[in-house]
Amino acid sequence: MSFKKEPDAMELGECTRNPGYQDEEDGGSVSDSNTAVPGEKEEDSAAVKLDSAEEYTQLKPYAGMPKEVLLLYSSQARYRVPREILFWLTVACTLTLVGLTITVIALSPRCLSWWQVSPVYQVYPRSFKDSDGDGVGDLKGIQEKLDHFEYLNIKSIWISPFYRSPMKDFGYDVEDFRDIDPLFGTMEDFEELLAEMHSKGLKLIMDFIPNHTSDRHRWFNLSRTRDPHYKDYYVWTDCNASAPKPNNWVSVFGNSSWTYDEVRGQCYLHQFLKEQPDLNFRNEHVRKEMTDIIHFWLKKGVDGFRMDAVKHILEATHLRDEPQVDPNKPPESITTEWDLYHDYTTSQVGLHDLLREWRAEMDSYSREPGRYRFMVTESYDYHEVDKTMMYYGTPLVKESWNHDRPRIASSAGQTYVRVINMLLLTLPGTPTTYYGEEIGMENINVTDSQIQDPAGKYNASASRDPERSPMQWSDDLNAGFNNKTNTTWLPVHPDYRTVNVEVQMQDEDSVLSQYSFLNDLRQSHLPLHRGWFCYVHADATCLRLPQRAGRTQPSFPHSA
Ligand code: GLC
Ligand code: MG
Repeated sequence: MSFKKEPDAMELGECTRNPGYQDEEDGGSVSDSNTAVPGEKEEDSAAVKLDSAEEYTQLKPYAGMPKEVLLLYSSQARYRVPREILFWLTVACTLTLVGLTITVIALSPRCLSWWQVSPVYQVYPRSFKDSDGDGVGDLKGIQEKLDHFEYLNIKSIWISPFYRSPMKDFGYDVEDFRDIDPLFGTMEDFEELLAEMHSKGLKLIMDFIPNHTSDRHRWFNLSRTRDPHYKDYYVWTDCNASAPKPNNWVSVFGNSSWTYDEVRGQCYLHQFLKEQPDLNFRNEHVRKEMTDIIHFWLKKGVDGFRMDAVKHILEATHLRDEPQVDPNKPPESITTEWDLYHDYTTSQVGLHDLLREWRAEMDSYSREPGRYRFMVTESYDYHEVDKTMMYYGTPLVKESWNHDRPRIASSAGQTYVRVINMLLLTLPGTPTTYYGEEIGMENINVTDSQIQDPAGKYNASASRDPERSPMQWSDDLNAGFNNKTNTTWLPVHPDYRTVNVEVQMQDEDSVLSQYSFLNDLRQSHLPLHRGWFCYVHADATCLRLPQRAGRTQPSFPHSA
């Protein structure tokens, strides 16, 4: 292969005149030697010689012109001005785009976590579904009914306590925080339930009961025998069996919150039953024990906790009498929680630090995507909104109507069931639904001899049994709660033939159908579950939301 030099070929180190420019009649070249063809250099240079910048401005630019010429052109106003305009326009557009992007990101609502999207459904395990026919609901029973949550489009399930317990307060008196009560099943049953829930995309929230244990808890037995490590695990003070109690503090369930313990020869504090001694959270070992228990369950994979009775966790150490609501009442007649202002037994300084510490524990287990661990606290500061607000990490969690209060149909009236469910599902926040409220179950009547609840045994009118009756699944025996025996731990409500899940699923005007519709609506209408509220029309009978493509427009209430 040869590299024979062609006559026309441009040689390295030489430049050639731009052919386009040569075609121009009065165009010229510049005097730069690089632009001339060798040989023509001398003759042409005289003709095209240009001495001043002014002369250059007469010339038109051409392709391949040398840098020096280009610079002369580029500084001319007709090139410079459009160039600068374009430059600043590009800068302005870029800045606007960046600004717009930041604004859109800043204004866009954050992705909601699982606990904000779905309502929380509270299962009271004794009453939900009894799989083995002993009259009491159990974990396997809950597992049998997971389809109900799929039907309702509910993803978060809070299950009231199923720890090992002597059941003096139906599981809120815990004997072992790391074990399951045989009445509800085994640890294996729990693990199976959790695995199946997770495989169905459901989240499990447990009750956590930090304020007290059962008096049958190992720690209490060691504390009453003054074991050096455990002696301060509970709140003890000197008193004797016959003398007046150390102060006027009363239990939530009535009567003094102090009980004399013969083994130790001192009184211990219990803000609930005497079988529920209060833990001493001023003892660092107690704090550590409770945090370890939280870790135990988080490691098992539970998705969050409902923290029970938190405002009672700390008490004043000075043990002074609490102020009486009616100062004229004789001190010996002070027996109920309503008689005192609870300045020394509730919401003490340090409580929120403790709750924040627990929240931080949840956070440390929330790092994988979709594994946010939820924490909600029970709060009963009805008339003190500021106190209640101190528990909030986010502003949009609604307080639940829980298993200690009458059902909606019985407190507000059957007529209001639909409208209360509607408010619950359409107001901002995360709603909580207590089992049975989705079908409008009513309280049962419990005769004195049928009372099960310890609070009811102190005071029949305070009994919480009426709102804890078995879930009404169908019009079968025992409303389908269990169909193996005739026993149920509390009577089934006699209205179960019409008020039950099976019947209401067939009726598109039922409380259940309305609940499920509203829940779908809440989850598909961003404004509803994000806490914005837009409506097209509202009057005394009708609330109309903006139309969404592809969905039938609801107007409620349509039959209430
Ligand atoms: C909470 C529970 C209630 C229980 C009490 C004592 O208030 O909701 O059911 O009796 O704590 O643990
Ligand atoms: Mg306490």
